[in-house]
Amino acid sequence: MSGNVAIIGSGLIGRAWAMIFARAGWTVRLYDPAPGVAQAAVGLCAEGLGSLAGEGLCNDPLGAAKQISAAGSLAEALADADIAQENGPESLEVKLALFAEMDALAPAKTILASSSSAIRASLFTEELKGRARCLVAHPVNPPHLIPLVELSPAPWTSPEVVTRARQIYNGIGQVPIAVLKEVEGFILNRLQGALLAEAFRLVSEGYVTPQDLDKTVKDGLGLRWSFMGPFATIELNAPGGIPDYCARYTGFYKRLAADPAAPSVYEAPATEKILAQWQAESDLPSRMKWRDQRLAALRAHKQSQSEE
Ligand SMILES: NC(=O)c1ccc[n+]([C@@H]2O[C@H](COP(=O)([O-])OP(=O)(O)OC[C@H]3O[C@@H](n4cnc5c(N)ncnc54)[C@H](O)[C@@H]3O)[C@@H](O)[C@H]2O)c1
Repeated sequence: MSGNVAIIGSGLIGRAWAMIFARAGWTVRLYDPAPGVAQAAVGLCAEGLGSLAGEGLCNDPLGAAKQISAAGSLAEALADADIAQENGPESLEVKLALFAEMDALAPAKTILASSSSAIRASLFTEELKGRARCLVAHPVNPPHLIPLVELSPAPWTSPEVVTRARQIYNGIGQVPIAVLKEVEGFILNRLQGALLAEAFRLVSEGYVTPQDLDKTVKDGLGLRWSFMGPFATIELNAPGGIPDYCARYTGFYKRLAADPAAPSVYEAPATEKILAQWQAESDLPSRMKWRDQRLAALRAHKQSQSEE
């Protein structure tokens, strides 16, 4: 399945979506109100597709790059779009104005999806005539290497739109999940938040160094998590599966849950204690490049394996 996608906002996330859709054979129109940004994004996407090909994650980078063009206006980008992926700034005012414009301009068939990290769809679509076709489709950075997309509809989003969105994201090689009820942080960042708060607490209270805490994830929990989630993990950690695991271990987990990390773990003096032990990276851009290369290799490995 392929079609036409309008990429609204051509920054970091917009460009990643453009590469993902183009790689899957879609026709991509990029729009950005900042002068020259959409045009520059076309070239940046072509470069990015070349790098993905080098990692074994794009079969035809030149063909994919040809699928991407810059639109001169929002209306031009949206004309005949099957889906619009909005990637403007993370501000409620911007999303409100932009979705009102997109709803007025887009053909009736167009799904209007926002990449918003934390603004729920119900906050910026309620008054729209076409509110039934709107939802959040939250990617994870960098989306061309991490395939998860959290689909979070508003209460008035049509189930048919959610089904169609799921088919589209599956079809372009992403992994959509459904957020069944709107909740702050969706699913991924709530899980990340639980782990991060405990990590801040354990280091700031002197139980472990930040370096050894990171090893606990990258050389411990994270090895399993790259191919199985926490439910699949605990099912295999007790002979009788999940009921047996709950019977054996929930006494301990209940005691932990009764004493969660406080919001103050994210403030001084807790943060000062952590930073005093952390050797800051001197060259963040090259470290990000290193991260993306490692992620690309891991993604290529996962694609070469049968997941189930
Ligand atoms: N960066 C991340 O890690 C990440 C991850 C997941 C989701 N997101 C979400 O994706 C969205 C975009 O984030 P980003 O990191 O690409 O930001 P960015 O700053 O790289 O890009 C934003 C782009 O939006 C453009 N823009 C400004 N006003 C606009 C308007 N009215 N209409 C359309 N475009 C407009 C800007 O010119 C810019 O090119 C945000 O909602 C963000 O929360 C970001």
